[in-house]
Amino acid sequence: MQRTDQAERLRARRIFKIAVIPGDGIGGGVIAEGGRILDRLAEVSGGHLSFQWVHFPWGCRYYLETGRMMDTDGLDRLRSFDAIYFGAVGWPSVPDHISLWGLRLAICQGFDQYANVRPIRLLPGVQTPLRAPPPSMEWVVVRENTEGEYAGLGGRNLRGRGRGREVALQTSLFTEEGCERIMRFAFDLARTRRRKKVTSVTKSNAQQYGMVLWDEVFRRVAGEYKDGETEQGLVDAMAARFVLRPDTLEVVVASNLFADILSDLGGALVGGLGMAPSANLNPERRQPSMLEPVHGSAPDIAGQGIANPIGAIWSAALMLDHLGLADEAAQVMQAITATTAAGQVTPDLGGRCSTRQVGDAIVARLSAGRG
Ligand code: NAI
Ligand code: MG
Repeated sequence: MQRTDQAERLRARRIFKIAVIPGDGIGGGVIAEGGRILDRLAEVSGGHLSFQWVHFPWGCRYYLETGRMMDTDGLDRLRSFDAIYFGAVGWPSVPDHISLWGLRLAICQGFDQYANVRPIRLLPGVQTPLRAPPPSMEWVVVRENTEGEYAGLGGRNLRGRGRGREVALQTSLFTEEGCERIMRFAFDLARTRRRKKVTSVTKSNAQQYGMVLWDEVFRRVAGEYKDGETEQGLVDAMAARFVLRPDTLEVVVASNLFADILSDLGGALVGGLGMAPSANLNPERRQPSMLEPVHGSAPDIAGQGIANPIGAIWSAALMLDHLGLADEAAQVMQAITATTAAGQVTPDLGGRCSTRQVGDAIVARLSAGRG
């Protein structure tokens, strides 16, 4: 569905309507910091930029009260927004497959946000667990976000027919179109990088149908992008390469499941899950995109005010980029890196700051940069 004229007019005036879904656990706290950062940008813009936030209370508490993770007309209500800013979903009292499918996957798949972009970068002042890290650690995982192993196809049978008899089938779906569009996205992204290198990851030696199709489409699309390097690897070896030679990576494109796992590994290498941002993009902009930190709701630290907000704030910077506000995105990234370099970080990074104090430190730098 196309955007309304009214939405276009607001964008021209640099007024952006953002849907906020804090979700569960630490989601609300980290998203609040990202919202404050963008509001600060608006404040220092002297009225040239503004954000209209609309909050939605969806998540596990909502489910326990209503039996639904989101309203039945939820997607329709989100459709007119310029972007969706999402915290995290999941709580121990609700099965994870219900909460994930009922909200996050419903939005990603419902709005055809097929490109999940997950930058991985070691920021100054942050420790990597690698003993001998390369001089620079910076790459991006591009995850196919609508099909593959998370297509939701399958079923269970012979349930309750006697112990050991039940069977379950979980089928991956790979379409030629789905493979092609995510690869084109990855190659286009690589063109903005120094080496223009794309690494495709599968397990096509064992997954001989869907992932062989993926490999074939990759080779065909690669033939149209001859200006950069390409390579193909198997996911097990790629997990080792993430640890041993991350400097050989630039843009890594992989299926829904593999990229999900690899991006957590990447996050761990650059300071942990709290440092990992992500953008679920509908690149054609026919429907809203959703920005969210990679991490989940972290019930183990929820309510303590110590969650690292950087993944969420960095995701807000990705939102700015997506909205065409590249300068503002760069300002936020500069403020984040100055803050990590100064050691103003949460306990997961070895610091003593609260979630709020990290947000304060970043807000202060935005003011200093512009005021
Ligand atoms: P998680 O990402 O919530 O937590 C894993 C570990 O990382 C925990 O020890 C946690 O304390 C730590 N951690 C995560 N984010 C952090 C941050 N910002 N600052 C400091 N430490 C942080 O993953 P987990 O424990 O596997 O899942 C918890 C719940 O979140 C589950 O219900 C799961 O389904 C859900 N989940 C939701 C996601 C989403 O909404 N996009 C993504 C991943 C998990
Ligand atoms: Mg994950």
